[in-house]
Amino acid sequence: MLETIQSIRTESEVFKIDNLEDLDKYRIRFLSRNGLLNELFEAFKTVPSEQKKQFGQVINQLKNDLQGRFDTLKFKFEGQGQADAQEALDFSLPVVPDMVGSRHPLTIVRERMFQIFERMGFNLSEGPEIEDDWHNFTALNFPLNHPAREMQDTFFVEKNPDVVLRTHTSSVQIRVMEQQKPPIRTISPGRVYRNEAISARAHCMFHQIEGLYVDKNVSFADLKQTLFHFVRELFGPEIQVRFRPSFFPFTEPSAEIDISCLICKGKGCNVCKHSGWVEIGGAGMLDPDILKNCKIDNEEYSGFAFGMGIERIAMLKYQVRDLRLYTENDIRFLSQFRGL
Ligand code: PHE
Repeated sequence: MLETIQSIRTESEVFKIDNLEDLDKYRIRFLSRNGLLNELFEAFKTVPSEQKKQFGQVINQLKNDLQGRFDTLKFKFEGQGQADAQEALDFSLPVVPDMVGSRHPLTIVRERMFQIFERMGFNLSEGPEIEDDWHNFTALNFPLNHPAREMQDTFFVEKNPDVVLRTHTSSVQIRVMEQQKPPIRTISPGRVYRNEAISARAHCMFHQIEGLYVDKNVSFADLKQTLFHFVRELFGPEIQVRFRPSFFPFTEPSAEIDISCLICKGKGCNVCKHSGWVEIGGAGMLDPDILKNCKIDNEEYSGFAFGMGIERIAMLKYQVRDLRLYTENDIRFLSQFRGL
């Protein structure tokens, strides 16, 4: 009998159990009603009573070992099954909405504009939004009481001496020319303020990007080519540019820059007021007096300057119909610029 017990033990020990199926085969072979263990207990009945104690112990030990291995593996495989079930993905679950932010359209356009000028060798300069009279007006050839000052409906912070909210970023160009020696090639983006009633087409606060180039032999042809290249880079090769004579106190000659209307492709629509052209900014050759005001030799150096409204450019690029959308923080508007 001891031999039988030993052979069952050996067989059970080499029995391979890798999964629940194997475990069930193991149970049937050893632990079920018709299994080897029960056969052993049947045989045990015929064991002479003086040997019962000795055999009984060995059989019980075998039973405990077989049952123990079974319990341990059952726990392991079933637990594993549950863990697998937990880890499995449920593809029918509704998606958790991902709140991806977006950059403001004015930020996107300002960066695009700056990148184009940067490739042409312009650097970035910034200045204060609260300006003194000299940098916003006087140094730019707006004499006191000159009617040109009224072109720009100014917000005054203080009077006599005047401190204003800058009406253009040309003030930054004066600061740069006062501090640096030519050659100067710089772009000044920033917020500007004008006392205008807020409407779809006007705002009391908007953004400009102004450019300045001062060097020897700078010509109007350089100005035209610079702006032409810029506009094509930003809007694509089909765009057309036109310069219209204009007036600014700090440039001579002066021009306004128009581009062909992107909405109607020049045929005429509401946005271009049926002219086929949209104005995007002003430009001109720096008046020699401006260079003198900044202590730059105006015999040796000449320069050009230009200025554009970022809102207007973004309106044309993204077909935004109302300026007020830029400042209302409406998520339905802002989220349309995701990924740009
Ligand atoms: N500063 C002008 C404005 O705000 C724009 C401009 C800049 C015009 C440079 C000519 C040259 O309207």
